[in-house]
Amino acid sequence: MNCRILFVGAFAMSLWVSAGAEPLGLPPVPIPADNPQTEEKIALGDRLFHDTRFSADGEVSCATCHEQAKGFTDNLPVSVGFNGLTGTRNAPTVLNSAYMKTLFWDGREADLEGQSMQPPINPVEGGLPNHAPILAVIRDDNEYVAEFASVFAVDAASITMTHVSKAIASFERSVVAGNSSFDRYYYGGEVEAMTAEQIRGLDVFINKGRCVSCHTIEQTQALFTDNRFHNIGVGFKQIRGKEQETAEQFIKAKREGVDVDVAVLTSRNVSELGRFAVTENITEVGAFKTSTLRNIDKTAPYMHDGSLATLEDVVDFYNNGGRDKDTDPLSGFQSGGIRPLNLSDTEKQQLVAFMQALTSPDLERFTGR
Ligand code: HEC
Ligand code: HEC
Repeated sequence: MNCRILFVGAFAMSLWVSAGAEPLGLPPVPIPADNPQTEEKIALGDRLFHDTRFSADGEVSCATCHEQAKGFTDNLPVSVGFNGLTGTRNAPTVLNSAYMKTLFWDGREADLEGQSMQPPINPVEGGLPNHAPILAVIRDDNEYVAEFASVFAVDAASITMTHVSKAIASFERSVVAGNSSFDRYYYGGEVEAMTAEQIRGLDVFINKGRCVSCHTIEQTQALFTDNRFHNIGVGFKQIRGKEQETAEQFIKAKREGVDVDVAVLTSRNVSELGRFAVTENITEVGAFKTSTLRNIDKTAPYMHDGSLATLEDVVDFYNNGGRDKDTDPLSGFQSGGIRPLNLSDTEKQQLVAFMQALTSPDLERFTGR
């Protein structure tokens, strides 16, 4: 009897980590064939994600900038790395990053495994010269050695960054959160789950605001991102009028061997080139990845440069056609989908209220990790 219960329990758990049992409103998490989810690997990744020893001053872990209590961000305009050095960009949430088709604001990494290799060796993040110090810490830590042996069947000397990145990515794929008031209203059929104001805000989001054209909502699930890149006007605060010149200087430096990851996080002007830095396609100057809006109420400030402090500011920005003030000049690089919206004050408030309905009730599920 006991045995049977145990067996059923183990079976249910393996279902949870491999597929199915997604929170309401989310599709199944895509899992790469060469990195299947296991509880043990997730726990190992969790530990690595929180380990501050993988940085030059021993004080910066992934969780420094992606903190559970702050919706897996740092709630700062731009992140602060080792020795207090600041980068150029706002830390996006790790919540639901499992669904992103590309990683980083400019999509320069293809998957979570590749992404996790970058922060420790970025000069304004972890600040390490290379990955060797990380492997040294791990090989010297008996608990890690035992855990890597159990998860990947490797001995201490054979542990590589590939194993480290796989474990971190597995942890990140477990950090998914849906089941918001919106999900219960829209997919769960709970008519009371959203307030009347939020329901009207959903209507503004879909119709007059046209937000849904990029922050997508599908029949059975919503990621609130089209996983594409658009210039909505944020970047031009920094390089307005000198876009072409900045692009040319960057290409020259890139040909001379400058590391793109370092360049975008250390030069404010290069950062503003957005997707162009990756594709070198001139139409993508200042284009950034559409953010998910899930849990957006927890992850202020907003945009790739953290320049908008509140959701009210964001709505004003869109209402002005992607400008701080409607008297600011329009840039030729801006997406055609961004135009003044003529929303009333009431509609603006409704839109903000709707975005506040996108918070998952179970974020504390990750507490203590
Ligand atoms: C010093 C702060 C800092 C540290 C440390 C840090 N990150 Fe980040 N993280 C950021 C910033 C800033 C970005 C956006 C950078 C960009 O887009 O160019 C980012 C982006 C990401 C993304 C992309 C999310 C998306 O939607 O595209 C993921 C995933 C992520 N970080 C995970 C990690 C992991 C894993 C670690 C530890 C190995 C880590 N981060 C360490 C600040 C940090
Ligand atoms: C043309 C596509 C497009 C449309 C339309 C659009 N957005 Fe966005 N949204 C984006 C992109 C791209 C970003 C990231 C831009 C950046 O940082 O430069 C973004 C960022 C945001 C952010 C900040 C996310 C974060 O984590 O910092 C919020 C909030 C937001 N949009 C809400 C809205 C609302 C509300 C509307 C409708 C009024 C809307 N968006 C319409 C593409 C769009």
